[in-house]
Amino acid sequence: MRRRRSRFSPGPFILHVGVLLFVCSNIVLAERFDSLPRLPRPGSTARRPKSRIVLSVDDHGARGDGIGDDTAAVGNVWKLACSLSAPARILLSAQKTYLFRSIDFAGPCRSKITIEIAGSVVAPKDPEAWEGLNPHRWIYFHGVKHLTLEGGGKINGMGQEWWRRSCKTNATNPCHPAPTAVIFHRCKDLIVRNLRVINGQQMHVAFTNCLRVRASNLGVIAPAASPNTDGIHISASRGVQIEDCIIRTGDDCISIVSNSSRITVRDIICGPGHGISIGSLGKSKSWAEVHDVLVNGALVSNTDNGLRIKTWQGGGGSVTNVIFQNVWMENVSHPIIIDQYYCDSFEPCPNQTSAVQVGNISFMGIKGTSATEKAMIFACSDDAPCEGLYLEDIHLVSHTGGTTRSSCWQAHGSVSGRVYPPPCLSFEDRDSFIKQKTQSGSENFHSF
Ligand SMILES: *[C@@H]1O[C@H](CO)[C@@H](O)[C@H](O)[C@H]1NC(C)=O
Ligand SMILES: *[C@@H]1O[C@H](CO)[C@@H](O)[C@H](O)[C@H]1NC(C)=O
Ligand SMILES: *[C@@H]1O[C@H](CO)[C@@H](O)[C@H](O)[C@H]1NC(C)=O
Ligand SMILES: *[C@@H]1O[C@H](CO)[C@@H](O)[C@H](O)[C@H]1NC(C)=O
Ligand SMILES: *[C@@H]1O[C@H](CO)[C@@H](O)[C@H](O)[C@H]1NC(C)=O
Repeated sequence: MRRRRSRFSPGPFILHVGVLLFVCSNIVLAERFDSLPRLPRPGSTARRPKSRIVLSVDDHGARGDGIGDDTAAVGNVWKLACSLSAPARILLSAQKTYLFRSIDFAGPCRSKITIEIAGSVVAPKDPEAWEGLNPHRWIYFHGVKHLTLEGGGKINGMGQEWWRRSCKTNATNPCHPAPTAVIFHRCKDLIVRNLRVINGQQMHVAFTNCLRVRASNLGVIAPAASPNTDGIHISASRGVQIEDCIIRTGDDCISIVSNSSRITVRDIICGPGHGISIGSLGKSKSWAEVHDVLVNGALVSNTDNGLRIKTWQGGGGSVTNVIFQNVWMENVSHPIIIDQYYCDSFEPCPNQTSAVQVGNISFMGIKGTSATEKAMIFACSDDAPCEGLYLEDIHLVSHTGGTTRSSCWQAHGSVSGRVYPPPCLSFEDRDSFIKQKTQSGSENFHSF
């Protein structure tokens, strides 16, 4: 177990990523960003109310040796903090490793709580530890308002054995659910910053039914071959900002699904993995709406997809007002892709007559290299064609030196500025109007 304390603060580096990239486009990210210097932790000491009570889990029976089970001790400290009328800070010391089994942090609490993870938190490595427990969760926060999770430390899901037993790793394995490492459910006014979440059993960090979330300076890391290990997952949430994060996993870096809106993603380093995805939506004829999403500033490298919207046939609802801009691609298999025929099942999916409507989606300033010839794919539904697609200032060339092309089916929209590969949209004449609408609709999300 690595005990090195990491002050994970990529922020200022990412801000300069755009500049850096144009200077040396063949940057080797892994090396560059693994050796980040230790920077001061933003905001962790400033403006701390005087009345804050500090509760060290070490004073309440936690062993922090990585072997003894600290679940009960930490759970009790949470209950205590949650019952206090003054804001509390729960401290997990640096240089210690706390073993959590499946753990529940339930709200509502009487006042604000900050959890400072300066050291490490680890999961049991053996899936049998979940026997009799909910297999979908490991660290589970629910019904909590005004929570801050920070501290410069590390949360390690110890996912190796879960991945080995996954049916996606070996089709002869039975398919079983695996826990999401950290879930925030029905949260409000949440801050998660300056932490590393690694080797998640499945998804790493999920926000479900949350309102107002700020996630920044996170490092989310798992091997490229680990199955279903989404980095950050957003579901049924409103007002989520994700900034200055490095995400390298085996699945989507960021996935945004059903009934989410006002989502802002800025200055992200993504890859390997499956890119930044909206969806999948509409599975099993479900209804889903995703709107007002802004992705501004990302470096996406060696991923299976870059910017993707994926919907199953037969669903309902819509994806609208989405802007992807200022994204640098490096050897990405499908840098831009809208797929309304998504089908992630062993059986082929038959064509159906309904679809999640996809409209008013802008791609602006998307540059770099594609690992495949098909740099832009718009595979839209016959019954609900894509409308209001907008392309501006796109330059996606082949990583290996061949040509690139775009592919369109039922894709309507407009183009401005230089776009390479040559676009294939069926042109609409409402261009400027739509562009304006899409932009203004997405700029004032910030609820903070
Ligand atoms: C998949 O699992 C089966 C049964 O355990 C085993 O025989 C086989 O070697 C495994 N295949 C791979 C690729 O690991
Ligand atoms: C999304 O919201 C709609 C309408 O409120 C609801 O019917 C549907 O079940 C929700 N979908 C999910 C996946 O939460
Ligand atoms: C580029 O991507 C392809 C396909 O994912 C992969 O096989 C290849 O190793 C990558 N090249 C580099 C230089 O990373
Ligand atoms: C489903 O529809 C797509 C687009 O119209 C078409 O290319 C494909 O062949 C159809 N598949 C089947 C099984 O009918
Ligand atoms: C796209 O925006 C235009 C203008 O605001 C609006 O009329 C249209 O309904 C939108 N389309 C979708 C699919 O949301």
